[in-house]
Amino acid sequence: MSEVSVIGLGPMGIALAGALLRSGARVTVWNRTSAKAEPLVAEGAALASSVAAAVQASSVVVVCIADYQATYRLLEATEVASALAGKVLVQLSTGTPQDARHGEAWAKERGVDYLDGAILAVPSQMGKSESSIIVSGSEAAFQKSKTLLERMAGTVSYLGEQVGSASALDLAFISFVFAGLLGFYHGARICEAEGLRVGDFGSMLADIAPAIGAMIKQDGDAIQAGAFAGAESSVEMCSRGAEIVLRQAREARIDAVIPAFASGLFRKGVLAGYGAESPGALIKVLRKGM
Ligand SMILES: NC(=O)c1ccc[n+]([C@@H]2O[C@H](COP(=O)([O-])OP(=O)(O)OC[C@H]3O[C@@H](n4cnc5c(N)ncnc54)[C@H](OP(=O)(O)O)[C@@H]3O)[C@@H](O)[C@H]2O)c1
Repeated sequence: MSEVSVIGLGPMGIALAGALLRSGARVTVWNRTSAKAEPLVAEGAALASSVAAAVQASSVVVVCIADYQATYRLLEATEVASALAGKVLVQLSTGTPQDARHGEAWAKERGVDYLDGAILAVPSQMGKSESSIIVSGSEAAFQKSKTLLERMAGTVSYLGEQVGSASALDLAFISFVFAGLLGFYHGARICEAEGLRVGDFGSMLADIAPAIGAMIKQDGDAIQAGAFAGAESSVEMCSRGAEIVLRQAREARIDAVIPAFASGLFRKGVLAGYGAESPGALIKVLRKGM
């Protein structure tokens, strides 16, 4: 028996299995394209000949593949599902909270202890302090897999029995990262238009990341408390700032899609009467729908 089986050897599955191996864990791997397992086998992983054999090999089975539907296609086969009974299944593929609830129901029907998780890092960060894994679902499953999860990521957080929590927070995180990246790419175009180095812009943002984090934390607290009064900055101020970014895009003849979207949203906040409130008040516009 190995301690853990990793099903799925895309960039992330390889990183997870690699981190486990380097921490000294006994690891079995399986991938649809078995050639991808070769470097891991060279590091000491056992290559299972089938999904069923991978599931039989360990009491904890980690799945990290493209999506949940592909997971069911792999695990649905009778010999696989019966081998999974009584074991812990940790689903680390990205999905929605509804996918997580469906996964938990699927596992329960088959007597499988289910944990749904998300990885807040890129493959090269796995096994290092800067990586995080968040999980939710069966507490018993978490206790049985905690040590293994801690070998895969620097920080492991259990969010409780509500199985969709990890996925919800993951999608909230992805939403933040994507919007931030889009802003960054537009910022890069501003730099290019003015002959500045985009690399320096990236470094500047990395340096001030803690200050940006503090702003976001303040906004989160304001939204949680519904307290938007007496702000040091306001929706009105953001709206004017976004208009200036939009004007610059037109002056420099660069694509204006991102500032046009941002200024449109802030303007809606002003028109809705939230101009004097803190920027987080924009959530009241989003709650009403676009
Ligand atoms: N990469 C990242 O930065 C990152 C970060 C956080 C979370 N994640 C999540 O981690 C999961 C895996 O990501 P990834 O980066 O490893 O790459 P990916 O492209 O999302 O997944 C590749 C893996 O899925 C397998 N796969 C796809 N369709 C399949 C099917 N129908 N049947 C069996 N296996 C199938 C591939 O097998 P083959 O090798 O045979 O094609 C490979 O093992 C995803 O849900 C992703 O969102 C990734």
